Amino acid sequence: MKIVSQIKLPIEYEMELFEKKFLLSMSSKVSLLNRITHYVVNRKGKQMRPMFVFLIAKMTNNGEVNDRTYRGASVIELIHTATLVHDDVVDESNTRRGFFSINALWKNKIAVLVGDYLFSKGLLLSIDNSDFDLLKIISVAIREMSEGELLQIEKARNLDITEDVYFDIIRQKTATLIAACCAMGAQSVNAPKEEVETMRRFGELIGMAFQIKDDLFDYGEEKIGKPTGIDIKEQKMTLPLIYTLNNCSEKEKSWIINSIKNHNKDRKRVKEVIAFVKSKGGLDYAVSKMKEYQQQALLLLLSYPTTLYKESLELMVNYVIDRKK
Ligand code: IPE
Ligand code: IPE
Ligand code: MG
Ligand code: MG
Repeated sequence: MKIVSQIKLPIEYEMELFEKKFLLSMSSKVSLLNRITHYVVNRKGKQMRPMFVFLIAKMTNNGEVNDRTYRGASVIELIHTATLVHDDVVDESNTRRGFFSINALWKNKIAVLVGDYLFSKGLLLSIDNSDFDLLKIISVAIREMSEGELLQIEKARNLDITEDVYFDIIRQKTATLIAACCAMGAQSVNAPKEEVETMRRFGELIGMAFQIKDDLFDYGEEKIGKPTGIDIKEQKMTLPLIYTLNNCSEKEKSWIINSIKNHNKDRKRVKEVIAFVKSKGGLDYAVSKMKEYQQQALLLLLSYPTTLYKESLELMVNYVIDRKK
C-alpha cells in the first residue's frame, strides 16, 4: 500500500468529510470567486496539515474528534491555501500543484484579493463558532508567517544571511503553521495545556524538517508540481547555499555572491551555482540537519502508548522527509 494511504487509514472517514466541509467553507456569492475557489479545490495539495490535525486530535483523545476539530482543519487549510496564493505572487511563480498558479491565470490583482478572501473565511469560521482558543493559535501563526516572508526578503536584499537567520525564517514562515495545526488538533479536543504545548513543539520540529525538504527540492530536477531552481533566481538563500558560502574560498564566495546579485536571471549561471553547491556537499549538509529535526520530533511521541494514530503520525514524520513532492 502507498505510504500516504497507509497514513490516512485511521482518519479516512474524517478526511472525506473534511473535504466536503472545506469546499463549503470557501463558498461566495461572487461567481468569479467561486470559479477560482473551485479551481483551487480541484487541484488539492497533499493536505498534510489537516491530516496532522485529525491524527493528533485522535491520538490525544482516545480516537475521538469533534466539530471543533473539523473547523480547525478547515481553518488551517484555508490559511495555508491563502498563503500559497500570495506566496506565488511574491515569488512570481506560475505553477502550483502541477497546474497554473492563480496569478498566472488571473493575474496578481485577483490573486491578492482571493488570498485575502481565503484568509477572512478562515478567521470567520473560527469567530462565527466562538472557537476563540483555536483562533488565537492560528492568528499567531499568520503574524509569524508574514514576518518570516518579510525577513526572507530583507535578507535576500543584503545577501548576508547566516544559518541562524535561515532557521528563524523557516521557523516563522513554515514551521509555525504546522506547529499551529498540531496544537489545534490537541486543543480542539480540549487536551491539557502542557499537551497542547508539546504538540505545538512537535509540529514546529516537523515544520523545520518540512521546509528544509522543500528547499532541497528546489535544487533538484524532479517534477514536484511547482518550479525548481527558482530560489536563487529570487535571491532566496537556503541552507545548502548558506553552508557552501561558509565552506569555500573567498574567491569562490565572491563568485557565488556576484552570480546571485548580478546574474540571478541567467539560467546557465544559476545552474553552475547549483552544481557548485552540490559539489561542496551543501545538499548532504541540509539533509543531515533535516534528519536532526525529524529525530527530535519523533522523541516527543515516545511517551504515547502505541495506537494506530501514533503509528500513522510516525509514518507522517518520515513522509515529511521522504516525500516526492
Ligand atoms: C508548500 O506546502 C509551502 C511550504 C510551506 C513549503 P505544501 O507542500 O504542504 O503544499 P501543498 O498543500 O501540498 O500543495
Ligand atoms: C514557503 O516558502 C511558503 C509559505 C510560507 C507560504 P516557499 O516559497 O519556498 O514555498 P513554495 O516552494 O513556493 O511552495
Ligand atoms: Mg514560493
Ligand atoms: Mg520552495
